[in-house]
Amino acid sequence: MRSYFINTIGCQMNIYDSSRMSAMLTALNFREVDSFREADLIIVNTCTIRDKARQKAVSFLGRLASRKRKNPRVIVAVGGCVAQHEGRALIDLFPHIDIVFGTHAVTRLPEFLNLVEDGYGPVVDVGLTDAIDEVPGLIRAGGAVSDFVTIMRGCDNFCTYCVVPHVRGRETSRRPERIIEEIRQLAASGVREVVLLGQNVNSYGNKEGLCSFPRLLAMVNEVAGIERIRFTTSHPKDLSDELIRSYAGLEKLCHHFHLPVQSGSSRILERMNRRYTRERYLERVERLRETAADIAITTDIIVGFPGETPADFEETVSLIQAVEFDGIFAFMYSDRSLAPAAKFPDKIPSAEKNRRLNLLLDLQKGISESKNSALAGQILPVLVEGPSRRSGGSTGSGAGLERQWTGRTSTNKVVNFMLSGSLSPTPTVNAGDMVRVYIEAGFAHSLSGRIVSEENNSMNTGESFHAA
Ligand code: 5AD
Ligand code: SF4
Repeated sequence: MRSYFINTIGCQMNIYDSSRMSAMLTALNFREVDSFREADLIIVNTCTIRDKARQKAVSFLGRLASRKRKNPRVIVAVGGCVAQHEGRALIDLFPHIDIVFGTHAVTRLPEFLNLVEDGYGPVVDVGLTDAIDEVPGLIRAGGAVSDFVTIMRGCDNFCTYCVVPHVRGRETSRRPERIIEEIRQLAASGVREVVLLGQNVNSYGNKEGLCSFPRLLAMVNEVAGIERIRFTTSHPKDLSDELIRSYAGLEKLCHHFHLPVQSGSSRILERMNRRYTRERYLERVERLRETAADIAITTDIIVGFPGETPADFEETVSLIQAVEFDGIFAFMYSDRSLAPAAKFPDKIPSAEKNRRLNLLLDLQKGISESKNSALAGQILPVLVEGPSRRSGGSTGSGAGLERQWTGRTSTNKVVNFMLSGSLSPTPTVNAGDMVRVYIEAGFAHSLSGRIVSEENNSMNTGESFHAA
């Protein structure tokens, strides 16, 4: 039996694509191993959203040269966004690469392996012409509580800093019936939570005249066995009232919204080609909170976009203070050669970008800590993911007294919790269970608490128990 190792760098799209590769390789009788040193096939699923991500891929590829020298039969394959952008040039850089396959060629991996094994390597396929992949019946590894489902791919927005439209192609949505079928299969294999993926899920189906995204959510809400629905990513310009209303009607829809703002300055937003203003963004946040008061809102921010003045940056600071996000992902702007902003003047020096980044991270740490510690005393539904890493536990049911477990709230906060405490007998839990957890403390990146059972009414005020 041959073995494979996948190094996945980058976003959930790549995680999803890697899981499709795993499914195909399992069907071909490959087994997954934990180290590239033991693998007959090494795949690097690359990302090029920021320069750092590309560097990570390149440095890993460099390390594979000696592995290939020692065992020339090992196959090295490079997929994802760096592969898409750089194509054959990667082989010039690293002659030990056998396969370069782009973002539209994932499902042809078995074909490429055959070609290489028959001596026709190296193989390069970076066309952006495939119809969106509709691979029926991929059997996933199983055992996951939460899984991703791609509902669309590509992007038509062309934000001036972004490489995605250039390496993932035009926005294309999958048909709703195929999506629902995939989710039914996941539910049957034990998945309890699905995360619907796309670069801009809010515009799902528009181009093709399929159903709207809120309608798709309503369909997913009907799938038996699925208890929670998440989605990412949303574009503020396409966040409709209809989608906001979904929070009033769909009980499985998680109360978390990732809404990348990128900058608090309308001037910079225009230069980024984001097509909304600071005011519009704040208005959308207000509407979301009117409909779902407890909704957690997270965002992405770029600091040091070309031409970002201290005054523009101050507007980002004040926006963070005004919104009080539950979490932010902040990035230093980096030039991507395919994106127009690479040619914009007034680049911000690295040290200044770093200073701005750290300032935002410090600011957000305080906000996250105070928001999370304010949850202490509430009882929240938590979807159990498994024993927490800190407990040293691995699998199985949690009869062990002091074992710590981990899961997430509907608002996507990680909760580490104990089973023991005042309850007798000590309850047992399994990954995939929905339990109620009394929150004892909140930190910048997690909550801690202890499980409560239905009988323990003394701790249950009922008020904070929102739908999962
Ligand atoms: N430089 C820095 N950050 C970027 N992002 C996208 N392109 C760049 C770039 N060139 C960030 C955005 C996006 C997130 C996924 O990555 O904030 O939302
Ligand atoms: Fe990139 Fe903008 Fe498309 Fe998001 S919406 S993938 S940032 S071009």
